[in-house]
Amino acid sequence: MCGIVGYAGPRDCSEVLVSTLTNLEYRGYDSAGIAVFDEKNIIETVKSEGKLSNLKNKLETLGKPEGHIGIGHTRWATHGEPSDVNSHPHSAPRVTIVHNGIIENYQELKEFLTGKGKTFISETDTEVVAQLLDYYYDGDPITTIDKVMGEVTGSFALGIMFAEFPDRIYAVRRESPLIVGVADGESFIASDVTAILQYTKNYYLLEHDEIATLTRDSVSFVDKYLNPIEKELKVADWDREAAQKAGYPHFMIKEINEQPTAISTTVNPRIRGGLPNLDECGLTLDILKDLKSITVVACGTAMHAGMVGKYVIEDIARVPVNVDIASEFRYRNPIIGEGDLVIIISQSGETADSLAALRLSKQRGAKVLAIVNAKGSSIAREADMVIYTLAGPEIAVASTKAYITQISVMYLFAFELALAKGTVSTAECKRLTSALQKMPEAVKYVIESVDEICQYVGSKLITADSLLYIGRGLDYALSMEGSLKLKEVSYIHSESYAAGELKHGTISLIDDEMPVIAVATQSDLIEKTISNVVEVKSRGAKVILVCTDSCANKIKDGIADYKIIIPHIDELLMPITAVLPLQILAYYTSVNRGNNPDQPRNLAKSVTVE
Ligand code: AGP
Repeated sequence: MCGIVGYAGPRDCSEVLVSTLTNLEYRGYDSAGIAVFDEKNIIETVKSEGKLSNLKNKLETLGKPEGHIGIGHTRWATHGEPSDVNSHPHSAPRVTIVHNGIIENYQELKEFLTGKGKTFISETDTEVVAQLLDYYYDGDPITTIDKVMGEVTGSFALGIMFAEFPDRIYAVRRESPLIVGVADGESFIASDVTAILQYTKNYYLLEHDEIATLTRDSVSFVDKYLNPIEKELKVADWDREAAQKAGYPHFMIKEINEQPTAISTTVNPRIRGGLPNLDECGLTLDILKDLKSITVVACGTAMHAGMVGKYVIEDIARVPVNVDIASEFRYRNPIIGEGDLVIIISQSGETADSLAALRLSKQRGAKVLAIVNAKGSSIAREADMVIYTLAGPEIAVASTKAYITQISVMYLFAFELALAKGTVSTAECKRLTSALQKMPEAVKYVIESVDEICQYVGSKLITADSLLYIGRGLDYALSMEGSLKLKEVSYIHSESYAAGELKHGTISLIDDEMPVIAVATQSDLIEKTISNVVEVKSRGAKVILVCTDSCANKIKDGIADYKIIIPHIDELLMPITAVLPLQILAYYTSVNRGNNPDQPRNLAKSVTVE
């Protein structure tokens, strides 16, 4: 997704903009640019298609703009192909802007402006906003921005420079996130706080339609009625090191290795007297005991965490759980109302479809619990109750440590719900909770022990065009995540399938060119899954079996081409360790194919547009 940065202060602005944009690279982008007021207070803009290295080369060749105030951008193309001309910043005679999000009525506005004699050089909706700001410019940037905010529709964030005000930048947002950072004698804007952690941890969250004015030594805000407002200064509890690679070749493998800590940080504070306790968000045993059904709504990996939650909750708490894809839920006239609990899961807390699902659920009278990683994000703020996953900043586009903390929270929730419903005894709940608390050690062990075999198997997959993941029960829920992980970072097509459903059509795809990854960790289902493995094997498939040591003993030699064996633990908790070989396999397959797993093509970390 696009990334916005801005700076006002004593440092070399071009360098600050490039370094803060580098910190936002993880969001995904296909071009980049900066605009800086130079020594003569003229706005100089440099932009380039492709990676930031292209922009850096251009800045070296052309000479970087020398100045102390400017804005920068990484663009993830929506309106118009990735190209130099479509890259941001975009300018009109008196205005230069960077923009994240979508201006929904840009065609209409473009026609209006064309009728007024304005011409456009790019295909972007952003240039329309630049021209509109210029058209309405009345000498006062704030009233001009306010006028334009009244004309544009959509969800977006803007960083703005007015040619006549070389000592400042402006920022405004509607829906899309934007923060204002402050340090001694300097100020920043950024799409998220990780961009500026190397300079400051102090920041303000800009709310919808508020306008910020930043100079070197001041930041001020007005609300949507243009009244000056004081805002609460926040302090990021993520430090710079957490958002750096720390010697690992990629963020993805660093974050895989951070999972033991992520689980303990997330789980331990929510345990009291050996039992889960989610009172912090207002979920008391009294509320839980009256729950009749639950709907989990999320996208991608977060939705897969919801699938694991469904199997666990239904199994031990006997409460029906419906898991929905947010982009479907929001347009499907869902049956949700008073007395219902909707759980929204999101790492970023800014996913547009998940946010819309949250709002729809609240409108219809449901209570919304958000399970979110990014503090202060829109989903966290708008939900009735929040449980934060404490995974720290997740930089790699492919979610790993966020997923493991999301399922950890689902376990805590399921255990407490089961206790409230009386479907497990206190002793059993304590046993499960204690097993969950031991997961960090088990995860650490599995990460180390499967590394070599995953590297080897990953090297065998590099020529595959297509793969199938199969499993039953919790293993099926897990294989969905394994499949997504592989396809997003390796670009190999893959699907996950409930193993028992294969015979109903999909088995026709099997031949010796279609490897099958079978996940088999549930002892009551192992024989069924193995019979599906035998079916695909006899049709030529190469089989990679992910199973526990105790299941492995039940499987005859020759059934699988490669076995990835992990220790048997409480079977309800198996997804926590069984996901690790799937993540690591995806990582090595990606690297072996020469991809950058941290920034897979076409993907954005946080999908803030529909
Ligand atoms: C997973 O690896 C992806 N990054 C993606 O599926 C992601 O989980 C999805 O876009 C939801 O994002 P969120 O958790 O920030 O809402």
